[in-house]
Amino acid sequence: MIGVFDSGYGGLTILKQIRRQLPEYDYIYLGDNARAPYGTRSFDCIYHYTLDAVRYLHRQGCTLIILACNTASAKALRTIQQHDIDPEQLRVLGVIRPTAEVVPSLTRTKHIGVLATPGTVASESYRIELAKQDPALVVTQQPCPMWVPLIEAGEHTSDGAQYFIRKYIRQLISRDPLIDTLLLGCTHYPLIQSAINAELALLGKQDCRTIAQGGIVAQSLTDYLLRHPQIELRLQKGGECTYLTTDDPDRFAQAAAMFLGAPVQATHVDY
Ligand code: DGL
Repeated sequence: MIGVFDSGYGGLTILKQIRRQLPEYDYIYLGDNARAPYGTRSFDCIYHYTLDAVRYLHRQGCTLIILACNTASAKALRTIQQHDIDPEQLRVLGVIRPTAEVVPSLTRTKHIGVLATPGTVASESYRIELAKQDPALVVTQQPCPMWVPLIEAGEHTSDGAQYFIRKYIRQLISRDPLIDTLLLGCTHYPLIQSAINAELALLGKQDCRTIAQGGIVAQSLTDYLLRHPQIELRLQKGGECTYLTTDDPDRFAQAAAMFLGAPVQATHVDY
């Protein structure tokens, strides 16, 4: 089975695109909603929460896990890959490198903005990975600490959310007006993509493209499975998806249905 993990609802934006592109596989989606948000927590805390989730998903039969969370990818992925898992038994992949490989081809000005959680920004992961692709890129990062809590609370279309969308977009664009490519470097942010685009238009930045990661990660996973047939062979193919949350399953099911556009059932888990 393929496990898709996020601190909460954000990874659903990745799961949706993965299942669209690779519908034949069985998936478990795990949202650690009880402990979200991760983005404002310490390195150690994010690492331990993520490792707990990875171990749990492995016990449930996942042999391939996608950390559909930039914060976990930035803060925990490398340590888990190097110290905590046997790659013969389990592969764990993140979302930052695949995204950084695609984004440089989308900019004309070579000025890229990265919207992300404070944890992802502080890790410098995007700056490092983007520089590997093209050292001439100018990368300006904007931490957006209020966005994930607002989305997890279902408040992302409220006036309060509008205030913080305006605040962070204006801060970023004033720091680099030449940005023409704006990466949504947190899997929660596609939920407010249209509000971000509207704010950019108000600033006269209609030409600035916002990039969500779902399609990029789905394509990268497709390529990975083609390159690793021995891993692909172990995956079950029943087209099923199980939804698990560490918080209230009814609330999760409702929110997930909104993100995925179809009703789902969710189960509460402790690990
Ligand atoms: N969706 C997660 C990400 O991509 C949000 C992290 C959080 O819980 O703050 O970074």
